[in-house]
Amino acid sequence: MTTVTPNTRKGGKPMSAAARAGDPAAEPRVSFTNIRQVFELPRQSKKDTSAASTVVALDNVTLEIPDGQFVALVGASGCGKTTLMNMVAGLVKPTHGTVKVNGEAPRLPNLDIGYMFARDALLPWRSARRSVELPLEVRGWDRQRRRERADEMLDLVGLRDKHTQYRNQLSQGMRQRVALARTLASDPSILLMDEPFAALDARTKLTLEGEFLRIWENGGDSRKTVIFVTHDLDEAVLLADRVVIMLPRPGRIAEDIIVDLPRPRADHLGEVRYTNEFRAITQGLFDSLEGAIAAPTSDGGTER
Ligand SMILES: Nc1ncnc2c1ncn2[C@@H]1O[C@H](COP(=O)(O)OP(=O)(O)O)[C@@H](O)[C@H]1O
Ligand SMILES: [Mg+2]
Repeated sequence: MTTVTPNTRKGGKPMSAAARAGDPAAEPRVSFTNIRQVFELPRQSKKDTSAASTVVALDNVTLEIPDGQFVALVGASGCGKTTLMNMVAGLVKPTHGTVKVNGEAPRLPNLDIGYMFARDALLPWRSARRSVELPLEVRGWDRQRRRERADEMLDLVGLRDKHTQYRNQLSQGMRQRVALARTLASDPSILLMDEPFAALDARTKLTLEGEFLRIWENGGDSRKTVIFVTHDLDEAVLLADRVVIMLPRPGRIAEDIIVDLPRPRADHLGEVRYTNEFRAITQGLFDSLEGAIAAPTSDGGTER
């Protein structure tokens, strides 16, 4: 087992998770307690009779996310970010430890969760409008109500005139907008966003970050709880209330800081990047990460 103590001192205020929600006794919206996740790897050949090879995808991960917090999970490929999201969605059960969503074990399906990926995953035979209607169909909304809601959501993401277009008629940026509209359509209180803007060019990415942040910040006191995975540290600090940095082999938390940049930020994301406060936070994170990477781990993450 490796133990990494999350560093809460650098780059921002120490953790006061539930305090942000205004009630120190409030139940976290999502919690991970002492999570260890071991995956068995497929055998190379049928003749291989040796013990199964395993990978420690997560080790000793404890994290409490209060209602309405925007948390960015940052880390290299393979440090267990998607596995954590899948645990919230109820798709992966941890080998050890406890995950709770709204105080309970995750259920499948949980209609209070919206999940968005780097690739839009739109169905080619559905128009933009009918793509956004899909999660509403699952929830049994009638046709008229679905259509009105889908159009409202497409307007919200700037696709007012694209309702009837199909996937192959839309640019990558527009597809991600449709995916965002679909994720928001059923008004879930938890958003799982797995590198949602990673496949976009820099300019489109900045536009979508701003638009998504505006929608989220406009939620006021009833902002959604967001778990946002990215490997882009700048994006994490720009958007989030809190940045959790993970390291791989085994996947673990190395840093956990509160980003105390003022809100709303959506209308001036371009400028926030160049402020001294922003630079101080990202520089602090880089510095402490260097230290964490240099520190030896007792467990390489792969076992045999
Ligand atoms: N279903 C699975 N079976 C075997 N190994 C898995 C499975 N899912 C994830 N892994 C492994 O667990 C580790 C963490 O994966 P993942 O959560 O996808 O990381 P990230 O999203 O940070 O890139 C990786 O080494 C990955 O190969
Ligand atoms: Mg991933």
